[in-house]
Amino acid sequence: MNDKIKMTRRGFLKLAGGALIALVAGCGTAPQAAVEKAKAATEPLTKPIRKAVKSLTCDTSLDAEHIRQIITADSTTSRTVMWNSDDEQGGAQVAVRASGADECELIDTVSERFTDDGQSIYIHSAHIDGLAAGKSYEYRIISGDEGTAWLPLSTDAGGDFTALIFPDTQCSDGYVTWREVAESAAERTRDASFFINMGDLVDNGEDHNQWNQWFGGASSMISRMPLVPLMGNHETYTIDWQTRIPEAYLHLFDVPDNGSARFGRYYFSFDYGDVHFTVLNTQHQELDEHKSGVLDEQMEWLPRDLAETKKKWKVVLMHRDVLRYRINGRPERKEGFEEEGTMFMPIFEQYGVDVVLTAHLHTYRDRGHLYDFAPSPDGRGPLYILTGVAGNVRYPGLWIDHALDKVVAPQPDTDNYLVMRATRDALSFECLFPNGTVIDNVNVRKA
Ligand SMILES: [Fe+2]
Ligand SMILES: [Fe+2]
Repeated sequence: MNDKIKMTRRGFLKLAGGALIALVAGCGTAPQAAVEKAKAATEPLTKPIRKAVKSLTCDTSLDAEHIRQIITADSTTSRTVMWNSDDEQGGAQVAVRASGADECELIDTVSERFTDDGQSIYIHSAHIDGLAAGKSYEYRIISGDEGTAWLPLSTDAGGDFTALIFPDTQCSDGYVTWREVAESAAERTRDASFFINMGDLVDNGEDHNQWNQWFGGASSMISRMPLVPLMGNHETYTIDWQTRIPEAYLHLFDVPDNGSARFGRYYFSFDYGDVHFTVLNTQHQELDEHKSGVLDEQMEWLPRDLAETKKKWKVVLMHRDVLRYRINGRPERKEGFEEEGTMFMPIFEQYGVDVVLTAHLHTYRDRGHLYDFAPSPDGRGPLYILTGVAGNVRYPGLWIDHALDKVVAPQPDTDNYLVMRATRDALSFECLFPNGTVIDNVNVRKA
């Protein structure tokens, strides 16, 4: 299908956040010339650049795979758009416009060739900023004289919002199960603004096919709302089930910068509405032999990150759970707290974290509020929710209930997802089966 685009005389250039942005009328394929002119210009960048009136044809058959939105630190003004391709697509740009508008901005892209699991692809990332809060936009990818169709992109209004939360999505069935959970959740939650994957997106982090299948499963959401991807232990696994630096995860997801020279993209934080989300990395066991120090570095960073935010609510997302469970058939294993719990929980309490979401055990458990490693009947300390499982890898009968479990999903666990709703005085977390049956509903209130 061809998309007739007509360029007008008006064109403006501006620099925003270090990225070169060309604001042009018509959103076609010719503005590269305007970009080159802007690079050479010494005049103030607000000066209008005259362009010839020209009719352009932009094909919508560009081969852009797994077009995805990735969360940024501030979703009121920015968004990252990424995609993969087999061909180089040098000089590709992302065009952004207010929904239905004639004028658009062109965002330059950072592209790289990435080889993993014997496969080479190109990965492209464009950071869009200067957006307005609470507004509907559209974006498309343009490379040469080809482009994609326009896709929706909405910014955070800064107030109430709804988000989808998916626990471990790793699958052994071609990610059919993940697709079914994702599509059902997206269909039932039309007002979701973004979605979180709690880690272990894939069963094997080096397997090129599994990443393709995971993206395929997420296709009902991922081009129209941003993803928050957590790194899980399975992202660190090699084809032969050893551990490595999780190269695929690190290249596929251009998550917010954490200021770290050694562990960029391993952990990060972001805001949405009046909530500050802190995403921790719990993979030090797998990572330390390849690159040590991710836990120590976060022990320095976490208090700073939690202290600096002015948001009303603080939510922590981490793949590994804080509690240690007994396991059927292993009587020597006692229940208690995992290292991630003993290290991080006192910091959560000190800095007023409201909710902690975890994963990794493939079972849903609501523990209520915990404080000083004990139940907190007066609501002091964070609410701790172990989020469950959203793939076909399940551990029936493995875990023995913990004394701190308040609500346990019907056993054996089947797939579930969570809907988070943030309003002025409450954060609510509803846990559902894919058919919409509610398993649990818990909230935190604050005046
Ligand atoms: Fe895990
Ligand atoms: Fe897992």
